[in-house]
Amino acid sequence: MIGRLDHVAIAVADVEGAAATYRDLLGARVSEPKSLPEHGVRVIFVELANSRIELMEPLGEASPIATFVARNPDGGLHHVCYEVGDILAARDRLLDAGARVLGDGEPSIGAHGKRVLFVHPKDLCGTLVELQEA
Ligand code: CO
Repeated sequence: MIGRLDHVAIAVADVEGAAATYRDLLGARVSEPKSLPEHGVRVIFVELANSRIELMEPLGEASPIATFVARNPDGGLHHVCYEVGDILAARDRLLDAGARVLGDGEPSIGAHGKRVLFVHPKDLCGTLVELQEA
């Protein structure tokens, strides 16, 4: 069902600082910062040959990653995102197996303009997983 790894998301308190670390320590190519108010995050992408890293910091009071960053002041792995061919088929397969899909179970439009769903970490090896329609 799952295809390629689309991105790994790392939540940090300071996205510019994190991007500078990736650029200076690892020699990575990083994008300009972008605010996504509808997702409550400000992001910078690290472009890799085979995938990308999404560095994100909380944006606004109601940011969904604010608590995570408060608990992980040095930053931390927030989620991984896998591509799927058909997001509704993927959702139904997960629900049929008893896995918990977050929210109301309907796909939303993710940070990359594609349909996404999140699966509860307790149902996937302790890792928050985002599924994104290819
Ligand atoms: Co993501």
